[in-house]
Amino acid sequence: MLCLFIILILELQLAFAGDDGYAPTKSACPGGKLTRAASEGLNPEENAYIQQRNAVAKQNLASYLKGANLRDFDVDSFLRSANPSIGLSFSGGGYRAQLTGAGAYAALDSRTAVGKGKGLGGILQSAQYISGLSGGSWLVGSLASNNMISIDELLQQNTLWQTEHSILDFYGGIHFIKNTEMWIDIDEQVHGKKDAGFDVSITDVWGRALSYQLLANSNNKGAGTKFSDVMKQDQFQNHKAPFPILVADGRAPDTDIINFNSTVLSITPFELGSEDPTLQTFVQLKYLGTELDDGTPSDPNSCVTGFDNAGFLMGTSSSLFNNIVLSIDKSSLPSFLKNFINNVLVTPFEKLNVDVAKYDPNPFYKSSSQDSTIAKSKTLYLVDGGEDGENVPLLPLVHRKVNTLFAFDNSNNDLTWPSGKSLIKTYERQFTPQGANFAFPYVPDEATFLNLNLTARPTFFGCDAKNLSSLTSNIYDVPLVVYVANRPFSYWSNTSTFKLEYSQSERQAMITNGFELATRLNGTVDPEWPACVGCAIIRREQERLGHAQNDQCKKCFERYCWNGKVYRGPSIGDNFDENGRTVDANVYNSRNVPGINDGGPSVKRRKI
Ligand SMILES: *[C@@H]1O[C@H](CO)[C@@H](O)[C@H](O)[C@H]1NC(C)=O
Ligand SMILES: *[C@@H]1O[C@H](CO)[C@@H](O)[C@H](O)[C@H]1NC(C)=O
Ligand SMILES: *[C@@H]1O[C@H](CO)[C@@H](O)[C@H](O)[C@H]1NC(C)=O
Ligand SMILES: *[C@@H]1O[C@H](CO)[C@@H](O)[C@H](O)[C@H]1NC(C)=O
Ligand SMILES: *[C@@H]1O[C@H](CO)[C@@H](O)[C@H](O)[C@H]1NC(C)=O
Repeated sequence: MLCLFIILILELQLAFAGDDGYAPTKSACPGGKLTRAASEGLNPEENAYIQQRNAVAKQNLASYLKGANLRDFDVDSFLRSANPSIGLSFSGGGYRAQLTGAGAYAALDSRTAVGKGKGLGGILQSAQYISGLSGGSWLVGSLASNNMISIDELLQQNTLWQTEHSILDFYGGIHFIKNTEMWIDIDEQVHGKKDAGFDVSITDVWGRALSYQLLANSNNKGAGTKFSDVMKQDQFQNHKAPFPILVADGRAPDTDIINFNSTVLSITPFELGSEDPTLQTFVQLKYLGTELDDGTPSDPNSCVTGFDNAGFLMGTSSSLFNNIVLSIDKSSLPSFLKNFINNVLVTPFEKLNVDVAKYDPNPFYKSSSQDSTIAKSKTLYLVDGGEDGENVPLLPLVHRKVNTLFAFDNSNNDLTWPSGKSLIKTYERQFTPQGANFAFPYVPDEATFLNLNLTARPTFFGCDAKNLSSLTSNIYDVPLVVYVANRPFSYWSNTSTFKLEYSQSERQAMITNGFELATRLNGTVDPEWPACVGCAIIRREQERLGHAQNDQCKKCFERYCWNGKVYRGPSIGDNFDENGRTVDANVYNSRNVPGINDGGPSVKRRKI
């Protein structure tokens, strides 16, 4: 009895130590295998959430559609037989992507006070899924870890996303002592994880530093914040929020090759894994760090929890930034970190693989699913989700057969602007071995994206399911993609991916420009935009049910759908007007739209 009591106390203490600490802790295993085959379908807990979420989302979608002024369309009768689903997907691109994405998120959020009625408010509340990678994972991971806070509230609180100083100089140069304290804390935390017996990498340091921005509201700046705990917050408990997914890529050990053969992994609050033929396995996120042999714990009394630190996972998804950590002024660092970083700089393997997050032990070790390089390796190597070029994390949502996907693309592809490359990569992937089990709508080449204004204004892809029959027989499972690419309206939002400092006014300007992108300049360019988005949301279910599209939606589709045309002329250049790209420099390039001097050279007026 006494013995039991002491064990209990000890366990309690461990639990408390673990809750705020960074180092994972060990306890008894839940029993059974901790992995499952992708072929089993959706994770049961995710499925349970989505079932409940569907009911809430549908009510919200009804309000959105009613408010969007769809003509000749009976919302209630449609929704009695139809179940449209929505996914929101936010690309990588550092703070540029995080802040521009935040503007779009605000535009879709019915809680956003300013600009009510001008935007797409309510779509967030109607969506089943929200995904992000790299800079987009900072957005999605930070919001999810903060109970899906609205951008209005986040800005008003003014504690998260303190971007005035670089992540590496968080408190600013004059606060030398506070900065030093920060690195001492990070040092202790990462050192602690190592002492607990886990291999650490630069991603641990990066993830902890990142958390000072993204998890600032959590105890110890998120040192003990687990991604597997986000569903405990009330927005999720009440099924008021879309289900969050972060994305990272798998890289074969000892190679720096990332291509179509790479595995795309999704990280949800419940699991980590991939549907790709090279893995087809998922592991319970909560028990990440546990030594497994084909999913079975090597020691049933020793399961690890707390490895799934939210900052570490966001750091993994954005591991491209690991290099930045190496650029810190090492003189100010505590000795463990200093040695650690110096070591990385000289070890050939580490030096070649700075962008790699090590997951050791590999949860998929000897996983029986496939004869994959991943199953053979003792360590799982994950990198930035954007490294395979699929910078908008659509893949997990495509696998989940979501009807309408919003792709917020804030990539730097062509002269710092997106060129559709990410969609092209996802489209092409379906024709490779890794694409055996999904279909994605037709998209054109980059020149067409740029010159037919498919990036300068929102564009729908896959508008007609019947035209997809050469891709799959399950044509109604292929998403319709609402593509919204970065472009300037009130601000030059094409800041460098590696710009790590934004003043409060720059931060606000980026968010506002993102809001304008998603709302067609607050509804001024096209007052019918919310209705047209409604047409996109209901489309697949209309097709599946054999309902005709009304005239209003037909006209919307003429305006916003890519119609299959490709462009084969000279490049139109990089000037914009409200509607598209133009050679005429009278508008954005000469109106002295602010921001142009914040991150790059001044725009020279283009000679016509
Ligand atoms: C669009 O609306 C946002 C939010 O209300 C506002 O901050 C911004 O200034 C508006 N943009 C324009 C061009 O009016
Ligand atoms: C991907 O793997 C296949 C074999 O599964 C191989 O034929 C192909 O060349 C690889 N593609 C790339 C881009 O490495
Ligand atoms: C329709 O399908 C054909 C292939 O059958 C494809 O080439 C074309 O781009 C598609 N059109 C659209 C608008 O997706
Ligand atoms: C692209 O936008 C420009 C500027 O608004 C316009 O002149 C041009 O006609 C547009 N091109 C297409 C194909 O819509
Ligand atoms: C932003 O885009 C403009 C026009 O395309 C370009 O001139 C400018 O250099 C870009 N800014 C940065 C920071 O690259």
